[in-house]
Amino acid sequence: MSTSPALLNATRPAGLPTPDVAWRDLHRAACAPYRGAGRFAWHFARGKLGRDPVFRGLLERGDLPPRARVVDIGCGQGLLASLLAAVDAAQAHGRWPADWPAAPAGVQYTGIELMPRDVERARAAVGGLSSAPRFVCGDMCSVALPPCDVVVILDVLHYVDLTAQEGVLARVRDALAPRGRLLLRVGDAASTRGFAVSQWVDRVVTRVRGHRVSPTFGRPLADWVALLRRLGFASVRTVPMSQGTPFANVLLVGDLG
Ligand SMILES: C[S@@+](CC[C@H](N)C(=O)[O-])C[C@H]1O[C@@H](n2cnc3c(N)ncnc32)[C@H](O)[C@@H]1O
Repeated sequence: MSTSPALLNATRPAGLPTPDVAWRDLHRAACAPYRGAGRFAWHFARGKLGRDPVFRGLLERGDLPPRARVVDIGCGQGLLASLLAAVDAAQAHGRWPADWPAAPAGVQYTGIELMPRDVERARAAVGGLSSAPRFVCGDMCSVALPPCDVVVILDVLHYVDLTAQEGVLARVRDALAPRGRLLLRVGDAASTRGFAVSQWVDRVVTRVRGHRVSPTFGRPLADWVALLRRLGFASVRTVPMSQGTPFANVLLVGDLG
């Protein structure tokens, strides 16, 4: 039996926002730093944070623990850093919904990104926020990964070939603390149509953003899960991540301990 919204509101502690109101406020706050970073940065932030289900989902499921050291590989213009700064502010002002798990406040964020232009945009927009996110311009295949509790890789590994993907994931495992977590979003190559749509969209976006390489390298979901298990992730959960999109995206949550 589902609980009516009226009953939920009646039982919600006074002053705390509903999840929808909290998300609307977080979205607004996370986009705000991009206003002064140019039209592209602003519109991209609003569209991506608003339409991609992964960002709200991370908060609703409690995928990121408070005060974690987070490394975001292929961070683009640093949207996750901005969202986490908005989470800090919401938590500090008592604006976190009672229905959600603990806010991932006080996170130490490091973003790693190949494209210098994205890194400049990220630093210009969110580098000066009080959460002090750090951005490193480098190739995930070779850059040093700092010791961390959570690694986030959203839609990035398919830019490098299968051997390089495995190399990155092995280095991620080595950088993670013993009970560390990997949040890896991939396309499921076994879902032929959705995977083809995401590859087509990715190629167009890649060209528009002036990238040198096109994303091409996929695996069926079962192979991604098997690879993470082989690398030592004791528990691997899969979360469908295509709601409202034509893609075949899946979030893999891999825990070492
Ligand atoms: C599809 S975007 C995803 C951006 C971000 N993770 C998000 O979900 O909003 C992929 C990002 O990965 C970056 N990237 C591609 N190859 C990379 C590499 N070898 N090392 C670091 N970043 C890379 C791209 O420049 C791009 O910013």
